[in-house]
Amino acid sequence: DKGEYRHFMLKEIHEQPAAIANTLEGTLGEDHVLTAVLGPEAETRLKDIQNIHIVACGTSYHAGLVARYWIEEQAGLPCQVEVASEYRYRQVAVPANTLLIAISQSGETADTLAALRYAKQQGYLASLAICNVAGSSLVREADWRLLTKAGPEIGVASTKAFTTQLVALLWMTTALAQVNDRAPEMISANVRALKGLPRLVEKVLHLDQHIEELAATFASKHHALFLGRGPHYPIAMEGALKLKEISYIHAEAYAAGELKHGPLALVDENMPVVSVAPSDSLLEKLNSNLQEVRARGGQLINFACERAELDNGEGSIHLSLPWVYESVSPIVYTLPLQLLSYRVALVKGTDVDKPRNLAKSVTVE
Ligand code: M6R
Repeated sequence: DKGEYRHFMLKEIHEQPAAIANTLEGTLGEDHVLTAVLGPEAETRLKDIQNIHIVACGTSYHAGLVARYWIEEQAGLPCQVEVASEYRYRQVAVPANTLLIAISQSGETADTLAALRYAKQQGYLASLAICNVAGSSLVREADWRLLTKAGPEIGVASTKAFTTQLVALLWMTTALAQVNDRAPEMISANVRALKGLPRLVEKVLHLDQHIEELAATFASKHHALFLGRGPHYPIAMEGALKLKEISYIHAEAYAAGELKHGPLALVDENMPVVSVAPSDSLLEKLNSNLQEVRARGGQLINFACERAELDNGEGSIHLSLPWVYESVSPIVYTLPLQLLSYRVALVKGTDVDKPRNLAKSVTVE
């Protein structure tokens, strides 16, 4: 039932504060994460992990890409991420004590499931499923499970499943940091930030009104570029995927630093450039990339922190987000991009919940 909403996608976007709160329920202590959520011996077994491999498809793969930044920086463990359809057909080299993480909303995606089955013969320490469906094949077959509690996701475009996957992955990162005795201030800061997320996400949903205003210009374009840096690069990828999927506008994401290495040649007044610009250590670098775009007449749309000093030249549209703690920022910046694709699709009149050629769950290769 869509209730008061016009589409399941919009309903599911608005369900994110509750979905995140549900996913976190019972998983956090005062200033630490409750590792027992993973099972009785998790604490000792987590200590043995020295490497992480992540496999997934589509949006779930993007969640894995964000997690790589977190895991390497905060837990200090090497992490590799791969689309399941590639991983399952190649000979992987698995270092000792590696954990395999398979991420899937449905838990029935053929390639992800096959990747997990393949991994079971490759000498991993253990496998963990991060999944939204408790009774799914993926959850049944993995050694450990971390359930996202997003509730049923009907819209083909994944929204609340993605942000809750990120929440589960940040939780997992914090758990790994904790058992490896990493800085306690970082662990408690993550816990605090996770607890504050539902309210923050609620606040960011109010941007919808402004996003609606810019959707009309956007809808007349045939291409778009999405830029980000660090963990916001995969968020840019997710924004581009959403736009392609439901509005049928060709969109590509680039790590902002790659702009000069090719894509800048595409930029002119017909190429909107969406940037994800939180106030982090990479802002200054991003800013100079944006100046390049502006100098070539590109239409810039910046989703930026209210504290960020982005130099706003003529023709740029600036949408402010509240300041957020660095770890949770990729989660928060996902929301305006979901709303952007939704509003553009509405203008274009596409079938938002059931985009052409796509199925909700890809159970065949
Ligand atoms: O159920 P899964 O998370 O395994 O699905 C993976 C992809 O098929 C899925 O994320 C797809 O990319 C979405 N339609 C994107 O919105």
